[in-house]
Amino acid sequence: MKPNKIGIIGCGYVGLITGVCLADLGNQVICHDIDQEKIRILQQGSPPFYEKGLQDFLKRNQDRLTFTTSIDQVIQDSDYLFISVGSPSTKTGAADTRAFNQVIDQIQKRVTNPKVIVIKSTLPVGTAQRIKQQLKGLIDQGLIDVISNPEFLREGNSIYDFMNPDRIVIGAESNQQAKKAARLYDSFTCPILLVSNEDAELIKYASNNFLATKISFINEIANICQQVGADILQVAYGIGLDHRIGHHFLQAGLGFGGPCLNKDLQAMISFSKNQINYDPHLLEAVLKINDLQPGRLLHQIKKLLKDFKGQRFGLLGLSFKPGTSDMRNAPSLNLISALLQEGAEIIAYDPKANLEAGNILKNQIQIVDDPYLVSENTSAILIATEWPEFCKLDYQKIFNNMKEPLLIDGRNIFDKDDIEKLEQIGFQYLGVGRNISLND
Ligand code: UGA
Repeated sequence: MKPNKIGIIGCGYVGLITGVCLADLGNQVICHDIDQEKIRILQQGSPPFYEKGLQDFLKRNQDRLTFTTSIDQVIQDSDYLFISVGSPSTKTGAADTRAFNQVIDQIQKRVTNPKVIVIKSTLPVGTAQRIKQQLKGLIDQGLIDVISNPEFLREGNSIYDFMNPDRIVIGAESNQQAKKAARLYDSFTCPILLVSNEDAELIKYASNNFLATKISFINEIANICQQVGADILQVAYGIGLDHRIGHHFLQAGLGFGGPCLNKDLQAMISFSKNQINYDPHLLEAVLKINDLQPGRLLHQIKKLLKDFKGQRFGLLGLSFKPGTSDMRNAPSLNLISALLQEGAEIIAYDPKANLEAGNILKNQIQIVDDPYLVSENTSAILIATEWPEFCKLDYQKIFNNMKEPLLIDGRNIFDKDDIEKLEQIGFQYLGVGRNISLND
């Protein structure tokens, strides 16, 4: 069978991973981005950002991958056009659809032979319907199909997730159109859902909103644990044993960050309130709990240190989660800005995000490439990202370097036995939802 000709418009995490994985499945893939530097790096065979396995996938599929900044070329050379440009939050929280709209305008001007438009970007419910109105002339001539095919990839695991999906969702006007896109996923054994465009758009938002809800729920329970002297790790394990609840996404800590959970929650809240006149009470509470979470930990620390002014903090972890260098919406940034505002000094280390963090924070904090340096002369060590390697550090060495023995585990990376050992060394340990009540 001849390979499918696939175009990817937008080489961010979603687009690039989709492109290299579709190439790995045997398709001919041309990837487009307006960022010339990114395309230049990709043309040299290098990944423009860190993602596990990406370098290898770029290399082993080099004969099936092309990179271009020419929108004409990507449109002309493809039968399927995957759109994966960003949809960041506007000031009101709504999804910014401008980049997506521009791509649709360009396709509209240039299409001369049949194309399947596959929407990967996360866009408000009704977007596919709106562009079907815009492209009605081309659709009536049989030149365009509009498919909604949301992604569920986790940064840091995105290649694995693409190749091992729980489900594939394809939204279209008719089953016949949906099946055209479903062909691309013939080799997968997971359920393939053929639904309407609106169903597909909503499945994406509802999935991310539900994940965010689980995190805020467990953080709320952790905050209650903190007051009553219960241990959130035991509580989360106990509730997760109920198969209706499960263990996933019940890790209490500083709250969720990253480019998606926050943005999609805000977009859904804004859409509900402004487009359909519905008050999404639960989703608003989820966002509020998350916004308050870093401040709650700082409040606990303040009870122990009294004043942050002049205190030196060692920060372990900067990225929004382990396995990535991505700093977007990283909870570490909230902690840093609050601590700096109160006159603290910060020295930080991250296994992958030092460079990206440095670009954002400039010289406001000191960033080092040795985790042990963050302990030198510090009043507290604060773990802000759950990198597994932080569990394996030599904490005796860290303790010896510190001025005060306070260890703040903002991600609950240590279990009960670890904490006992840390306390034997001499540390005072503070986790999230794991301590004997520190009453107000
Ligand atoms: C999320 C979803 O998990 C993906 O399914 C989705 O495709 C993606 O957004 C997207 O829309 O593109 P991602 O942003 O990569 O993926 O990150 P997650 O793994 O969901 O983690 C988000 C944040 O929640 C991180 O800061 C993490 O540390 C935090 N988290 C996660 C917790 O605080 N507790 C948990 O139990 C789990």
